[in-house]
Amino acid sequence: MKVRVETRDVGRLRSELLAVMIPKIDSEKRRLANRLQGVDRILGGQLRQVIESGDFRGNAGETLLLFPNGESETRRVLLLGVGADAELEAETLRRAAGSAVSQARSKGVANPSLLLHATRRLPTADAAQACSEGAVLASYRSDGWKTKREQNGDEVEALSLLVDGGDTRKARAAASRGAIIAEGQNLARQLSNEPPNDLTPAAIAREAQRMAKEVGLRCKVMNVAELKRRKMGALLAVGQGSANTPRVAVLDYQPKSGRRNPPTVCVVGKGITFDSGGISLKPGGGMQDMKHDMSGAATVVGLMRAVAQLRPAVRVIGVVAAAENLPDGNAYRPGDILTSMSGLTIEIQNTDAEGRLILADALHMVNSDYEPDAIIDLATLTGACVVALGSWATGLFSNRDALVRSIRSAGEHTGERVWPMPVWDAHRDHMRSQIADLKNVGGRDAGSSTAAAFLSRFVGDTAWAHLDIAGTAWTSKAQPHQPYGATGVGVRLLAEVLDGWPRGGIS
Ligand code: BES
Ligand code: MN
Ligand code: ZN
Repeated sequence: MKVRVETRDVGRLRSELLAVMIPKIDSEKRRLANRLQGVDRILGGQLRQVIESGDFRGNAGETLLLFPNGESETRRVLLLGVGADAELEAETLRRAAGSAVSQARSKGVANPSLLLHATRRLPTADAAQACSEGAVLASYRSDGWKTKREQNGDEVEALSLLVDGGDTRKARAAASRGAIIAEGQNLARQLSNEPPNDLTPAAIAREAQRMAKEVGLRCKVMNVAELKRRKMGALLAVGQGSANTPRVAVLDYQPKSGRRNPPTVCVVGKGITFDSGGISLKPGGGMQDMKHDMSGAATVVGLMRAVAQLRPAVRVIGVVAAAENLPDGNAYRPGDILTSMSGLTIEIQNTDAEGRLILADALHMVNSDYEPDAIIDLATLTGACVVALGSWATGLFSNRDALVRSIRSAGEHTGERVWPMPVWDAHRDHMRSQIADLKNVGGRDAGSSTAAAFLSRFVGDTAWAHLDIAGTAWTSKAQPHQPYGATGVGVRLLAEVLDGWPRGGIS
């Protein structure tokens, strides 16, 4: 779907559907704002009526469809409440723009228009970016495996964002940014929603390669022989029970700017294409959701696509660490002792704690190959994180306060909220084994912190942040801009973090 920015001239608009964002109406005054006079005119006074009668109050999420019955060339007007201006958030606009697109789709409207609402708190550029994101996100559908397109399913081709004359330039740049980011997020969703029979480790590596070719990134894929050569014993062990053998894909974005040595950030994603638990088999109920256990890797692929187009001033290395965790005669077992690429030995106590094993090798690899300024990993790592934060926030674990601040603030801006959780020496000590350097499970208590503490042993002293997206990577509660299934969480968040990468560094 395309997003166009046009100068508003509601009177002369010809549109099958004009969506209008309306802030909360003062319940005492019930007055029509000046900027909406033009809309009221094409509606022959109906807007004033529904506002004065109190039938439409402008509450966030409220919608009302009206039909102009005069000379207007606009067929339908969709009112979208966005709530009080003083509290307006980008997420409200994403949702509203998402509603506009999903309503347009259900009415077979290919080219809807949306009248932008901006405030002091959320000026034109921010509002345009949010609307563009919401619209493009709403254009993604997760039911692509149905053989018959359901009725009310016509695709929206383009959304016209209508803005004030002086703002077109700013709005255009912001809308294009928003579209790039949302397309990256949609790619992440698509990969995560793919069924595990199609999306094997080799397949996700291929998708990374295909994306790299499309946007001009370098991409290297390591197969089992290469992973053996590099002694990635932990990652290989996780994948050895599946006929779909492991892969690691490395995507490399280099900024073109004049800077000799730009900072380097590595982003590593957990890519378990299906997590059965292995020999420590999971219970059957809900196991199908474990096809999403590669969401961290999917986010890396979507993010790198956006990065290639946004061109931030940092070098970004994206890593997809992919394996399938299945039990068979060759599978790794509880009791096994693995030697990781770093040389640290790991006693396996539960084969279902596999994510930290593949990440151990991927984190060590990027840390030693690139000597990065920072490493950020994304992983659907622990059920404990779902218990702690639900789907309301991604768990954030880090060894640098500045990194925590930057990621938290990006979370507030992008609506992909994160919440800091502790990783202490006590957690690290808890992960020591009696017979090897480390054990791979720490028990129920503080399960997401002990998992993070395990990971921390593989990044040395490099600035590092771990995002546990187990609760945020997929949803069964659909919204206008978020269908059932994968969310692509982390693309908006990290696009923002990388774009504003602190010049002074984060150490
Ligand atoms: N992929 C799961 C974590 C998960 C659980 C993600 C629920 C999303 C929703 C991970 O590999 C896992 O199985 N973790 C175990 C670790 C335990 C054995 C120490 C868990 O959280 O139970
Ligand atoms: Mn597991
Ligand atoms: Zn897993």
